[in-house]
Amino acid sequence: MSGSAEPVNVADYERLAAGALDAGPLGYFAGGAGDERTLRDNVEAFGRWQLRPRMLVDISETSAATSVLGAEVSMPLLVAPVAIQELAHPDGEAGMARAAAAAGTLMCVSSFSTTAPRDVAASAPDAPRWMQLYCFRDAGVTRALVAEAEECGYRAIAVTVDAPRAGRRERDLRSGFVVPEEITVPALAKAVGSDRPMTIFEAFGLLDAALTWDDLERLVAGSPLPVLVKGVLTAEDGRLAIEHGAKGVVVSNHGGRQLDGVAASIDALPEVVEAVDGRAEVFMDGGVRRGTDVVTALALGARAVLAGRPPLWGLAAGGQAGAQRVLELLRDEITLALALCGCPTPADVTPEHVQRVTR
Ligand SMILES: Cc1cc2nc3c(=O)[nH]c(=O)nc-3n(C[C@H](O)[C@H](O)[C@H](O)COP(=O)(O)O)c2cc1C
Repeated sequence: MSGSAEPVNVADYERLAAGALDAGPLGYFAGGAGDERTLRDNVEAFGRWQLRPRMLVDISETSAATSVLGAEVSMPLLVAPVAIQELAHPDGEAGMARAAAAAGTLMCVSSFSTTAPRDVAASAPDAPRWMQLYCFRDAGVTRALVAEAEECGYRAIAVTVDAPRAGRRERDLRSGFVVPEEITVPALAKAVGSDRPMTIFEAFGLLDAALTWDDLERLVAGSPLPVLVKGVLTAEDGRLAIEHGAKGVVVSNHGGRQLDGVAASIDALPEVVEAVDGRAEVFMDGGVRRGTDVVTALALGARAVLAGRPPLWGLAAGGQAGAQRVLELLRDEITLALALCGCPTPADVTPEHVQRVTR
């Protein structure tokens, strides 16, 4: 991008965000675990798949709209749960919720949100949203988060299962990153009884590392909301999630921030889709930067994808309006990619629309 040119894609927003953020927060948002192999591979893996477009299909009327667990959305791309968004921009989670609502999509709100789930809901009351759940060692904190989500009209609980401990995030170790004093994370404050500054490693230390599939089953039984399991990478765990009552599975490696060296999410997706075998909706996140990536994921069996860093870069670069612009850019790219594949709607995408690169 040069001079005053308007950003035209996610990569442009990433550069703008890198210019807008201080080194510590930038390292926290951008970084991954270990050698960041999985972080890079999440993006690069899409280059190992090719689309197989079909011609002479009437695409005079197209729409990216779809539904996720029964909620209508304008496109098969949702906002992934990303912690402490006020660190990116004062508009924070409330701005992100309004951006998602304006773009017609759904936001999944992090347990480590800087705005209470109740206030995020109030900032965009008519939009659908999910609550991402971390299970705290203090079960009262977990219960309060679930109760707040139920009371405030959240449509589902997405339990994150890939973070019983924080990954080795070396950018944060080097920068000594702490959540600054002026930024409060209500759930963390409740868990420690004060809002003192905390490293990310301390925050994850408050979570229940003893969690098992039985706990998932108890959560499913204890809430009227559908439960999704976020952070599955294998057929075995996809199957277990369904057997323990999950209504959805998110194939995810936490954006390369947990166990380094695991498969890119898009490469793990097919085996999970096969194991789930239509018994629940399968989602994926990690490395989605283009509308064509979304169509690839749909062809490999995803109901929809989630994007973490892309809307976050929009928020950092331009607050609520920036996040909205990124989501609208992606919606335009998805609609175009669908049309050029000969798919008027997401429901028209089939496994025949994708192939593995063989060279
Ligand atoms: C800065 C940051 C914070 C995140 N915080 C959370 C979180 O609180 N809970 C969670 O389940 N996932 C969290 N994630 C993971 C995202 O939900 C998602 O899996 C990941 O960002 C997808 O990869 P992408 O950034 O390439 O789209 C976070 C990711 C980032 C980049």
